[in-house]
Amino acid sequence: MKKVRVRLGSNSYDILIGPGLLMRTGVKLKEIGFSDKLVIITDPTVKNLYGNTLKQSLTSSGFEVLLLEVPEGEEQKSLETAGRLYHELTDFYTERTTPIIALGGGVIGDLSGFVAATYLRGVPLIQIPTTLLAQLDSSIGGKVAVNHGLLKNKIGAFYQPRLVISDITILETLPAGDLSDGLAEAIKYGVIWDGEFFTYIEENLDQIKSLDARAVETIVFRSAKIKAEVVEKDERDFGQRNILNYGHTIGHAIESVSDFKVQHGEAVAIGMLAAARISNKLDILDENEVNRLKKVIARAGLPTQIPTLQLERLIQAMKHDKKILQGKIRFVLPKSMGEVFITDEVNSSLVEQVLVEWNEQT
Ligand SMILES: NC(=O)c1ccc[n+]([C@@H]2O[C@H](COP(=O)([O-])OP(=O)(O)OC[C@H]3O[C@@H](n4cnc5c(N)ncnc54)[C@H](O)[C@@H]3O)[C@@H](O)[C@H]2O)c1
Repeated sequence: MKKVRVRLGSNSYDILIGPGLLMRTGVKLKEIGFSDKLVIITDPTVKNLYGNTLKQSLTSSGFEVLLLEVPEGEEQKSLETAGRLYHELTDFYTERTTPIIALGGGVIGDLSGFVAATYLRGVPLIQIPTTLLAQLDSSIGGKVAVNHGLLKNKIGAFYQPRLVISDITILETLPAGDLSDGLAEAIKYGVIWDGEFFTYIEENLDQIKSLDARAVETIVFRSAKIKAEVVEKDERDFGQRNILNYGHTIGHAIESVSDFKVQHGEAVAIGMLAAARISNKLDILDENEVNRLKKVIARAGLPTQIPTLQLERLIQAMKHDKKILQGKIRFVLPKSMGEVFITDEVNSSLVEQVLVEWNEQT
């Protein structure tokens, strides 16, 4: 088992990473001082696969367990679902010290985190992420939220978990598309923070894709460590945490233009490549580095071309991105593998030119 400590003063916590950790959850929770009762929030797929193992681990450590189920899908990240959960929690809660365990992907993590942050003005949160994206990214850093109308993730809080348990064996049941989605985030960490990690992914991608335990543990561990370091520097997202948005300016535009038919990881992959091309156009990033990125994205099973959407719509959507200021777009641009910078000075005409040229090539 590997461990990453997220150092945030009195809100510090550990991320435990390794195979078979789910069945040790009860013991781990006792070690950090919990006893008595707890609540699990999960979705039907994850409940069927892992609900019993978790329940058994907890009851054999003496916990009384309430399991609450939420249907699958992004639309469940809503105030309505949170309201239903508050209602279901009422009879069970006698103490604010009773923790909520989020067992699932990013949807369950964000929703349960929001409920934990707000119910009784805050009850302890434990994250047990079950998708690669959730293990590498969404379970770490304390951003919890629900959507409201068109406002995605806009109703929320910074609320750190007390413990994150990433059991890598759980990833074996993930559909291939969801694995690629998570890989996009691992590649992102390599580009924004750690060139050696990028090389590790290049060299071990086949093992990672075939879920070799050592390789998967390594990428979850190194990604978690990078995310923890970024969050430690800027817990409340006032500056440096923005580098985590690498690939997201164009990525978000692609998601919205495609009515969210293009998956998040796919959109981010295209966005990362677009930002690398812009950086190359500005003579900042070497062409060879753009090609390295393109190769690794393709090998991860992610797209390297703008999908057959009308380019005009994409450019229009980008212009509505909240990061746009007077014809200039905010971008996180790579200088090399492992180093990026944030700029508000990229001209939308340059972006358009890069996208048009790229579209013509493909
Ligand atoms: N809080 C943050 O910092 C942060 C960061 C990135 C993304 N997010 C959020 O994360 C969400 C996306 O999360 P996601 O990609 O994990 O998707 P998800 O939570 O929707 O899960 C995808 C599907 O995979 C299934 N699943 C989960 N684990 C499984 C397993 N081990 N085996 C088989 N099936 C499994 C789920 O039932 C679900 O149907 C979005 O809402 C996004 O906004 C949050």
